[in-house]
Amino acid sequence: MSGLRLGVNIDHVATLRQARYATMPESKNAEPDPIVAASICERAGASGIVTHLRGDRRHIQDRDIERLRQNIMTKLNLEMGNTEEIVDVALRIVPDEVCLVPEKREEVTTEGGLDVLAQRKELEATIKRLQLAGIRVSLFIDPTLETVDTAAELGVEMVELHTGKLANAFTEKIQKEELEKLRAAARAASESHLQVNAGHGINYKNIALIHQIPNLTELNIGHSIVSRAISVGLGAAVKEMLAAMANYPG
Ligand code: PXP
Repeated sequence: MSGLRLGVNIDHVATLRQARYATMPESKNAEPDPIVAASICERAGASGIVTHLRGDRRHIQDRDIERLRQNIMTKLNLEMGNTEEIVDVALRIVPDEVCLVPEKREEVTTEGGLDVLAQRKELEATIKRLQLAGIRVSLFIDPTLETVDTAAELGVEMVELHTGKLANAFTEKIQKEELEKLRAAARAASESHLQVNAGHGINYKNIALIHQIPNLTELNIGHSIVSRAISVGLGAAVKEMLAAMANYPG
């Protein structure tokens, strides 16, 4: 059994639901349900459920977060931008963990880590408020020694190292450089007594590279797992529909 824990990001389950513009996430026709998905992930061995409540609510909705809070058995890790509106939601829901991420409306997914140096003051205030509410706080950062040092100074419990550049590396040279940066950042974070997590773009192929990063506690993975679920589950779904159609009179 691997010592590495897995947090599954279920945002894309809600993305699929919102493709039909579900305004009432709990209505019978609103599927797939991220709460059901979370439960399946937990039963399969996930250590936690990760979800990003975005300012534009493009996938996960506020009611999803409330229902996840009530239903999940492991831990809820809420990814969020540092805005007053979303901080208020976090303080109301009280997830087990918050991962502060940069958020731009026009981005497809989180691009780059937090600019912890430029936003130090605003981050410090939010980190304190969240921690006072009993929430463990993580910062999603690019793997540089400077950001790790600043994160440690800000007094967070964890950092999540951004693995996107490693995952998207076009050449072996870039891959090697990114891996080296991640390895050094992970070592530095661990020496500063931070829990070291990693996430973004991790899939079934590059997981072997991730194994070369030392001191990791948890990986947060979304896209590749939800995508893989279609490959391994689509055949069963078709068979179930054919069985339901089998009683056609005529
Ligand atoms: N960690 C963070 C901070 C993220 O923003 C995301 C994407 O929502 C992930 C992990 C998961 O990334 P992916 O969907 O590429 O696995």
